[in-house]
Amino acid sequence: MQQRGHWSSNIGFVMAAAGSAIGLGNLWKFPYITYSNEGGAFVLVYLVCILICGLPIMMAEILIGRRAQMSPVGAMRSLVGPRWAWVGALGVLTGFVLLGFYNVVAGWSLRTFVSCLGWSTGGFDATLDLGADFGAMVSNGPLQIGLSFLFMATTVWVVASGVKEGIERAARVLLPMLLAILLLLLFNSFRLQGFAEAMRFIFVPDFGRIDGNGFLEALGHSFFTLSLGMGTMITYGSYMSKEDSVVKASGLVVLLDTLIALLATIIMFSVIFSQPGLREQISKSTAGMLFITLPSVFYTSVPMGALLAPLFYVLVAFAALTSTVSLLEVVVSYLIDEKGMSRARASIASGSGIFALSILCGLSLGAIGGLSDFEMFSPKQGLFNTLDHLVANWLLPIGGLLVTLAAGWFVNQEIAKGELALGAPSFFRFGLWQFFIRYVSPLAVVAILVAVIFFHADFS
Ligand code: PHE
Repeated sequence: MQQRGHWSSNIGFVMAAAGSAIGLGNLWKFPYITYSNEGGAFVLVYLVCILICGLPIMMAEILIGRRAQMSPVGAMRSLVGPRWAWVGALGVLTGFVLLGFYNVVAGWSLRTFVSCLGWSTGGFDATLDLGADFGAMVSNGPLQIGLSFLFMATTVWVVASGVKEGIERAARVLLPMLLAILLLLLFNSFRLQGFAEAMRFIFVPDFGRIDGNGFLEALGHSFFTLSLGMGTMITYGSYMSKEDSVVKASGLVVLLDTLIALLATIIMFSVIFSQPGLREQISKSTAGMLFITLPSVFYTSVPMGALLAPLFYVLVAFAALTSTVSLLEVVVSYLIDEKGMSRARASIASGSGIFALSILCGLSLGAIGGLSDFEMFSPKQGLFNTLDHLVANWLLPIGGLLVTLAAGWFVNQEIAKGELALGAPSFFRFGLWQFFIRYVSPLAVVAILVAVIFFHADFS
């Protein structure tokens, strides 16, 4: 077996794990699902899920990975029992599918970057219908294939080049930059007339506006955004050194991830609520928010926007890259540890398979009728949205549920205690974690899944 690479320090691990967590889930998905679920109540449910499921499960995954020093399949087998190996395998499969559609959205950030370069040098036409432009872009089949190919190839290259060098170095520089630009945009939105309404929309819950599916989406997204429920954090944890604290690292990653998601949402909504025309445009294509709303903000209301816009979309692309790298890493580390492949071969083989799926997803946004009209959960959803729904709302929560059950009931609790205690802050109580991981987190997941499956829950 090859020697396992390790992160260089605690901050190296936090950066890499935060790099995995922070991505299109925060910048693209969270704002638009908050919009389509009508704000406040959805955000509150999401925050509660982060706290009662996300945080404890993050600790559980990292501790399992670090203790086992193996990829998810081997980790579950050795630490929980041979019968649990398939839970790891389910994670590998989930990662494969997730990356298949995630890649496509990541490709959009490249195209927006190029558009911004054009606007910054050639001038921005404020009358341009960015919504229509976005619609034309996603239904352009060859463009979708080309963009996702570029993204997949870059991801394969980073993963093939090894753990520490590729992932850690990039995350360390780029995350602080992303945060800085978001803070700048936040300050800018204070003076927009829609700011107050945006805050109200996001933070004042109205439970009449959320139904069972909203609960499921909030739960699923709390897993999606923290990269939980499919073994990413088990894999990353396996590269974490014994000197680092699992508890501190988990807390920091969860905090950063939530902060960035909320920032992105406040920024986008402040703009949307300031311009009635934009609101109409957005309701036709909520999923395009990051690529429709924000470019116009940069060019019409931000000081030095022409300079910042291309930079911002480069950072979005990098945020996506640190996430795609972590997704591919799950599949690759499985092939290395379980099938004895070399890192380079494993990266190329799995990357090619995932790219084939990305082609189908990329063509299901209007380019090919049969793929675009494909339906499973809701009418004419298309393959892309169906896979997103399947992974985020079902596979990740189920994977997360299995991890909580494993960590709370089947992993030797002395081992769990020892791993969590190393370097933990003095206020940390193992008993509290155990109470959450044994009862609260699994019950919350089961309650929401059962409500949706059996009662087609309509809570309003
Ligand atoms: N957390 C990432 C994001 O928010 C997506 C992701 C999910 C990455 C699962 C790895 C595993 O964009």
